[in-house]
Amino acid sequence: MISVGIIGGSGYTGKYIVKFCNEHPNVSEFYIYANNSAGQSIHNVFPDLVGEVENQTIKSVTTLDLSHDVYFFALPHGESFKYAPMLLKANKKVIDLGADFRLDNADSFKKTYGLVHTSPEYLNSKIYGLAEIAENYNQTNLIANPGCYPTAALLSSIPIVKYLGENIQSISTVSYSGLSGAGKKASTDLLFTENYNSVKAYNVGSHRHEVEIEQELKKYNSKVEYSLTTHLLPVFSGIYSTTIIHTDKAFQQDDVDELFSKSYNEKSFIRLRQTPPELKWVIGTNYCDLNVTCAKNKIIVTAAIDNLIKGASGQAMQNMNKLYGWDESLGIKSNKEQLTNA
Ligand SMILES: NC(=O)c1ccc[n+]([C@@H]2O[C@H](COP(=O)([O-])OP(=O)(O)OC[C@H]3O[C@@H](n4cnc5c(N)ncnc54)[C@H](OP(=O)(O)O)[C@@H]3O)[C@@H](O)[C@H]2O)c1
Repeated sequence: MISVGIIGGSGYTGKYIVKFCNEHPNVSEFYIYANNSAGQSIHNVFPDLVGEVENQTIKSVTTLDLSHDVYFFALPHGESFKYAPMLLKANKKVIDLGADFRLDNADSFKKTYGLVHTSPEYLNSKIYGLAEIAENYNQTNLIANPGCYPTAALLSSIPIVKYLGENIQSISTVSYSGLSGAGKKASTDLLFTENYNSVKAYNVGSHRHEVEIEQELKKYNSKVEYSLTTHLLPVFSGIYSTTIIHTDKAFQQDDVDELFSKSYNEKSFIRLRQTPPELKWVIGTNYCDLNVTCAKNKIIVTAAIDNLIKGASGQAMQNMNKLYGWDESLGIKSNKEQLTNA
């Protein structure tokens, strides 16, 4: 049995870590740490958890110590690398839901996030935890949990890049996210009243996740340009992404279907669909639903995930389970009814 620290447990993604730890058969205790909400009770911050999760007082992140086995960080970028090194030096397991350890070099981190990385020595010893793809979990104590857009885009494109790389001419993803993608912090742009009945693109040509996706695709020898265009969707959660891969020849549908089956048939949280998925099929679950369609010299992959679960906390729990060599679905309910009230 293990003890877990949930740092940022008062936020949108942290709340799901709380719920998953509460259900996990091998987690004997978990403690929640945060910033402004330190001193409040978790029932006060999340009244819907009354009766579900035992009450506790949220601790200040400044009181973080070595008393846990695993630490989930669900903080804004630039925060977790302040705490992770002391934990890693003490042989603790760290799973960061933020961006601090995702990029492989400090220059790229500075260029993308505008911050000097204070622990660059860990950038190459982490695992980039795209749970269906990542391996060698016994070689690290540090998991960089992928971003939400990268989770959908990489699960869509890696099977093609891996097996048909030579034939690819370009890859681009157009993606839509629910408003919770930006976290709890209030901002006028993200108000429901500003977004209701509308859709808009944002960070066009410069979204930070483009760098992350490109970095990971290169690990499969991708040599082509990649582009990500992101949009805000007036729903609470969900990511819908369409990835278009232009190829130098037409591929048969059956052959491409076979690549996806080969890649994902054994994976509990990927559902291959015969038609493009709908967001409502995955909201409140840890599933990534995928459909692949071949049309002339294009392969089009549509993907749907819940950004807070498969794009963050659900995948983070898969990663904890994989670090311990447990069944990766432990603690994560695939039961939609259990999760939709989160
Ligand atoms: N939202 C998503 O869909 C999503 C998906 C994938 C990854 N992520 C990443 O996951 C991380 C958390 O995202 P979120 O959406 O859960 O954010 P959020 O709802 O804004 O929650 C942020 C959490 O961090 C705490 N916090 C804020 N500033 C802090 C500081 N200076 N020191 C210590 N704690 C601080 C907050 O505590 P208080 O409430 O007490 O202030 C809160 O618990 C981010 O890095 C985000 O990029 C988010």
